[in-house]
Amino acid sequence: MKNWFGFILIYNLFFSGNLWSQTSMINIPGRHTISLNGEWKVIIDQNDVGISDWTAIWKDKVPKSTADFVEYSFENGPVLKVPGDFNSQLPELNLYESTVWYKKSFDYHKSDKRLFIHFGAVNYMCDVVLNGEKIGHHEGGFTPFQFEITGKVKEGTNAVLVRANSQRLKNGVPALGFDWFNYGGITRDVNLVETPAVFIEDYFIQLQKGSNNQIQGWVKIDGANKAQQVRVQIPEAKIDYKVSANETGFANIQLPAKLALWSPEQPKLYNVIISSGADTISESIGFRNIEVKGTDILVNGKPVFLKGVNFHEEAPQRRARAYSEADAFQMLTWAKELGCNFVRMAHYPHNENEVRLADKMGLMIWEEIPVYQGIAFSDTAMQAKMNWMVKEMVQRDKNRCAVIIWSMSNETSPGKDRDANIAKMADLTRALDPTRLVSSAFNQIKFEGSTATINDTLSKALDVIAVNEYLGWYRPWPSTPGTMTWVSDFNKPLIMSEFGAEALYGNHGLADSASAWREEYQEQVYKDQVAMFKTIPFLKGTCPWILVDFRSPVRMHPVYQNGYNRKGLLNENGKKKKAWFVMKNFYDEMN
Ligand code: GCU
Repeated sequence: MKNWFGFILIYNLFFSGNLWSQTSMINIPGRHTISLNGEWKVIIDQNDVGISDWTAIWKDKVPKSTADFVEYSFENGPVLKVPGDFNSQLPELNLYESTVWYKKSFDYHKSDKRLFIHFGAVNYMCDVVLNGEKIGHHEGGFTPFQFEITGKVKEGTNAVLVRANSQRLKNGVPALGFDWFNYGGITRDVNLVETPAVFIEDYFIQLQKGSNNQIQGWVKIDGANKAQQVRVQIPEAKIDYKVSANETGFANIQLPAKLALWSPEQPKLYNVIISSGADTISESIGFRNIEVKGTDILVNGKPVFLKGVNFHEEAPQRRARAYSEADAFQMLTWAKELGCNFVRMAHYPHNENEVRLADKMGLMIWEEIPVYQGIAFSDTAMQAKMNWMVKEMVQRDKNRCAVIIWSMSNETSPGKDRDANIAKMADLTRALDPTRLVSSAFNQIKFEGSTATINDTLSKALDVIAVNEYLGWYRPWPSTPGTMTWVSDFNKPLIMSEFGAEALYGNHGLADSASAWREEYQEQVYKDQVAMFKTIPFLKGTCPWILVDFRSPVRMHPVYQNGYNRKGLLNENGKKKKAWFVMKNFYDEMN
């Protein structure tokens, strides 16, 4: 790894705990866990007073004398399932955007092991209290975090309280306005994780960039004596590699490997076993190369066209935040059926089940953090938040070969601060993971007559340019679609990362009026888009917006939308609109 010492510096800055109070170990499924999923008692704290001493929700007080009383109690109140957003579980929480306090009691028998509590995600602001002691805070609704509770857990019964607040914030990431439903709560798994005193906290094991036969990466040991021997085994590839970690716990991994490369056509995964001292962890990892050459995107050295589709992390029939492997299987199976080899997980890191399943199913992934539209880039505190989200995103999924693109933002307004912030995030991303591509989706294109020019200076910081264009929907066609000319100021691949139109499934008629929300209108937009795609030589990927109609509080037409964005190729019950077949045909023709 070229900039090895620079990388250690960045890694320690973020992982030291000085700057941020918690980091998350990776590969939870591969560790010794005690699940805290299931029923949690809750208190609905609409005015969010429970974090103060006055109300004592966080102290979980009970009356001690006849003069005592409490107005908040977890006993005899509502119960919510974890994982799962709170909006979809109680009718009074349907449109709720404030605080729910959760409580879970668990029995624990202490040993010489270390103990952590790990959250897959809590949207948006989270405070955690264990046995009456505040143990930590996390901001951000779509990435994992943890707290070490080794010295705080009691022998016998313990109680963990979690404050989950989903209020949208001007200085949040995302900020106040976004076009998806703001599902709040403990939306992903909660686990207790037991580790030996010295354990394998983190590792990065992938092919060296540009090589098909050299594994490069590192293993990070945490604990008192970090300078342990580390062993990496890939039995099927006859690899058994030993190396010593240095005093900071880092072991540099560099070894030749003869591997069957992962590709969408052949998503080969290997069982990788990492051991050090008393700790052993394993998981399935794929090995492939992704790079850009001029305006081409290469997978394992071969040019590829990214036949993609966008989707939100939503279980449409449950009208809820998706979280399970079954939810992931439904979405990714629909993507496969459309003929995709690529998915854009919009607009935030989706749950780990989805990413791991994409590894297995051979679907390349665009993963992004929710730096979405109206972000106050001039606020320096925002830079720290955005950098932290980049780190948490890369950290969790850096061993998932399906992830080929890390995206920094979506449709942010052009400007010096925006370009400078995103360029810094791109540099951080490349320092944390030099093997993948960096992009950002934007929508400011210069249209002059029938020419569309890509000149957003953000492109300088990107490996792949990604344009959201809604010609035929938000913007009329400047000329006959197939006669347009696209020009780019940058010699880089272009992905059309969003395009489309709305239609209500089953609503039919002439294709002549957008305001009728007919399938025929949407179908014609897709036919025109495909005609245009065929005229752009540096176009190397397309991602229709969007696979499935999804819930959004800013889509309220009383006849056609009713709280749904209807740009889906499928409706929320998986029914195919006519535009589905245009896109499927476009992808099938490429095979
Ligand atoms: C935007 C945005 C999406 C939104 C879509 C739309 O480009 O990225 O989040 O849902 O357009 O307007 O439907």
